[in-house]
Amino acid sequence: MKFFIDTANLAQIKEAAELGILDGCTTNPSLMAKEGITGDKNVWNHYKKICEIVDGDVSAEVISTDYKGMIEEGKKLAKLHKNIVVKVPMIKDGIRAIKYFTDNGIKTNCTLVFSPGQAILAAKAGATYLSPFVGRLDDINLDGMELIHQIRHIYDNYQFETQILAASVRSSLHIVKCAEAGADVVTCPLSSIMGLFTHPLTDKGLAQFLADHAKANQK
Ligand code: G3P
Repeated sequence: MKFFIDTANLAQIKEAAELGILDGCTTNPSLMAKEGITGDKNVWNHYKKICEIVDGDVSAEVISTDYKGMIEEGKKLAKLHKNIVVKVPMIKDGIRAIKYFTDNGIKTNCTLVFSPGQAILAAKAGATYLSPFVGRLDDINLDGMELIHQIRHIYDNYQFETQILAASVRSSLHIVKCAEAGADVVTCPLSSIMGLFTHPLTDKGLAQFLADHAKANQK
């Protein structure tokens, strides 16, 4: 399973990259706005900065919602850096745009996916990645993880090559559940990745090892 970090915060991206286990990064317009990055030039420069830190795919989302606009914007984004993956919303023009990008060798991430039917459309268009939003389904009392299971099953039935990139992941438990469900990629906040380290028996065991070592080696 690949680990992506879901943020536009450069310090957090660096911290995750330094762990040596980071495979990519996803952003969206809300995450960019959260960092105070505004205006096309600043946004594009920010994508370049992320690409310099992350040795892997970096999703950059189009703002246009019409076919022509998405194509123009996606081409500009793809030219920024070899790591850029064009993130496109799950709408009719978005699916057409994904097909165009696929045919022209540009990687895509189909975002805002909430149903197995949408996942089929994105795979048919040749999307590189598919982003089902686990947490936002949980928010409305639907089972986000069940969607990952359903898509895994469907994609395996037909050997679709689109990678399932579980998004809107909110906890360390979500990461483990996504792994059990067979997600190819999980994108999550740094806090959820860091949470995976934590176990009280690890802390207790390490303290004991160090105490025993110190006792045996005291002069
Ligand atoms: O990148 C999209 C996604 O991960 C959003 O997560 O927590 O805003 O639902 P969230």
